[in-house]
Amino acid sequence: MFVLGVETSCDETSASVVADGEVKSNVISSQIVHSRFGGVVPELASRAHLRLIIRVVEEALAQAGVAKGDLDAVAATQGPGLAGALLVGLSFAKAFAFGRRIPFVGINHLEGHLYSNLLTRPAHGFPFLSLVVSGGHTMLVHVERPFHHRVLGQTRDDAAGEAFDKVSRMLGLGYPGGPIIDARAKLGNPRAIDFPRAFLGEGYEFSFSGIKTAVLYYLRRRGLPVPFREGEQAHAELINDICASFQEAIVDVLVSKTVAAAKEFRAREVSIAGGVSANTRRRNRLRTEAETVGFRLFTPPLEYCMDNGAMIAYVGWMRLVAGERSSFEIPVAANLELT
Ligand code: KG4
Ligand code: ZN
Repeated sequence: MFVLGVETSCDETSASVVADGEVKSNVISSQIVHSRFGGVVPELASRAHLRLIIRVVEEALAQAGVAKGDLDAVAATQGPGLAGALLVGLSFAKAFAFGRRIPFVGINHLEGHLYSNLLTRPAHGFPFLSLVVSGGHTMLVHVERPFHHRVLGQTRDDAAGEAFDKVSRMLGLGYPGGPIIDARAKLGNPRAIDFPRAFLGEGYEFSFSGIKTAVLYYLRRRGLPVPFREGEQAHAELINDICASFQEAIVDVLVSKTVAAAKEFRAREVSIAGGVSANTRRRNRLRTEAETVGFRLFTPPLEYCMDNGAMIAYVGWMRLVAGERSSFEIPVAANLELT
């Protein structure tokens, strides 16, 4: 069964062809229009999706060597995400499926992230524990078997990636902040500043807005301008220390909660998803913990960790095989939750 997957929930326009659970193509166009605003501008995202969607889908078909007529179904992200952005992909997918008289299925973006580890390892054993950390989400989920999962905890305010992006903007370092802070942190001292670690050792809920404010107060206390303008060389070492200490606080929380859950649920396998899983410090720390505690750590390749069409096509395929279809009437669901 050939399934076309379409993802447009945020600032990646992506399409993929999955054939019986095997990825044939995964085309991701990351919108760069947002970088000078220090964050995603919803209206610009919708317009960029409109401009890109047809080209991205055609490229996904070409790379897969699949003609439109070969497709058996279309899957698209229904939510959560930016309403206008979701609308582009969902409407495109519906129209495409309707025009070709093939089934259409709307997908929960979070399920896409949750099962993205299966893209490279279909024979993967359930149950597993999943840590989803991106610009929009931070959650720990226990996955018993396909579509039987329990959210152990999620963020009460900002997502981890959002905190990286906001702190990066305060420091005048650019967008997206994660990779920049990751690189600068390597040059700094993670113990230089003691930033708060919210809910450390207290269950599986997260909170990342306090640390962002703590960085702001720290800069103010030192009489430094916010935001720093890029190229303030005099403070380069201080910025490196802030990056390292900030990142360490975030990673401490992510790692300790993941390890606690792995122990409580006796998980033999822990999988990571979302853009923040690219973070090198988190990778290294969790790898060490995995060896000590005794679980397997699985991080899918980055193209499946970030927002991508393949995870949507894959979950679409799982749902279609189980006999599911969506009505052409389903609306976008900006606040869709993982249930
Ligand atoms: O999954 P993703 O591509 O899109 C969303 O669904 O949000 O994640 C993007 C987020 C951004 O906030 C970005 O700053 C963060 O992932 N990120 C990182 C790193 N690379 C990307 N955060 C920390 N360290 C990184 N190396
Ligand atoms: Zn995402």
